[in-house]
Amino acid sequence: MTPISQAHEIAAASRLDHVRYAIRDLACVADEVTQQGHSVLPLNVGDPLNFDFQTPPHIIEAVYKAMRDGKNGYAPSPGIPEAIEAIRGEAVRKEITTVRDVFVTSGVSETVDLCISALVNPGEDILTPKPDYPLYSAVLCKLGIGLNAYDLNEDDAWQPELADIERKLTPHTRGIVLINPNNPTGSLCTRQMLEQVAELARRHNLIVFSDEIYDKLILDGTPHIAFASVAPDVPCVTFGGMSKNYLVPGWRIGWGIVSGEAAAVKTYTEGVHRLLRARLCANHPEQYAIRPALEGPQDHLVEVQRKLRSRRDLTQKWCEGTPRVSCVAPRGAFYAYPRIDIPESDEVFVKELIRQKHVMVVHGSGFGQKPGTQHFRIVFLPQEATLAKAYAGIAEFIRERYGNA
Ligand SMILES: Cc1ncc(COP(=O)(O)O)c(C=O)c1O
Repeated sequence: MTPISQAHEIAAASRLDHVRYAIRDLACVADEVTQQGHSVLPLNVGDPLNFDFQTPPHIIEAVYKAMRDGKNGYAPSPGIPEAIEAIRGEAVRKEITTVRDVFVTSGVSETVDLCISALVNPGEDILTPKPDYPLYSAVLCKLGIGLNAYDLNEDDAWQPELADIERKLTPHTRGIVLINPNNPTGSLCTRQMLEQVAELARRHNLIVFSDEIYDKLILDGTPHIAFASVAPDVPCVTFGGMSKNYLVPGWRIGWGIVSGEAAAVKTYTEGVHRLLRARLCANHPEQYAIRPALEGPQDHLVEVQRKLRSRRDLTQKWCEGTPRVSCVAPRGAFYAYPRIDIPESDEVFVKELIRQKHVMVVHGSGFGQKPGTQHFRIVFLPQEATLAKAYAGIAEFIRERYGNA
């Protein structure tokens, strides 16, 4: 065999240079600390199954049965009929009255990818929130589409800043992303805000991508308001899925609900279906859990919400009582996004915090934020004792490194 004399590096595409996934990038720092024999308190990954949350047994049974019944081949590209029917039923419960199409995907991650890919041409853009869930900017990067991010306003409970959206609109803007409840801020859009975004979408002929993956994890008792229920005429794809509400992030099941004037969404929907066919199908046996999940007992949600409310309250109390920290109280999902008043970047803050106190949170710059501000994202899924220990460590770190201003 000829010896390899010179290795030629295979370069990754340069359009990936700006793909960041801060949540997982921090893992290298955590590995360093773990190798030194410390265990890290993980307040960084939004997977409830890492903590004291269990998948409802009846949906596990449904998948097991599907596998035993031989549902192990490819599924129809848009999803199995009984799942599509159940998601249509869910759309009715969300008061979405103009449903034009429903399709099942491998997690909301794939819905995001397909829906953006089916929309934007080179030279066009879509408006994404800042801060955002990093998948949106990663998909845009992958497509070679420049980021056009609008601010969420911390002084207005993280509502989208309409004036900034107006400023950022270009003749080439095709759509706008809402994340509601929001990751990383835990905020909820008000009805009035949804109406204003709808008005803007009408005026500028935009499609709205409303990511509602956390719609059943509302912590203050108010009903969640689906964008599409407020604006039945506006072209919209509502993103939903099983990962968070039904505690199965590893199953990779999500969906899109297309709504709006039929004529307005027809061609776009056909484009989405071309991509759905090209990737064959979403996971097949797992789709058999969609109907039992959406139509069966919802008891687990009572328990999940109770735990999350208690952990949110503990988190908020800590933020309010800690020098240099302030936080808009989260109302949904399981994230808090406190602001920190420190004289260095939040990335340094987070990395040093892992090294010195073995607590892992994610820096605000990993999600995007207004220049001159610093934040970090907390995942408040762990039990109260773990959270209390982590918060004591963070407070001590702040005091030691910056002093109690
Ligand atoms: C706002 C948001 N959208 C989408 C996703 C991806 O979800 P899925 O597991 O369905 O791919 C997440 C996951 O954390 C998220 O926070």
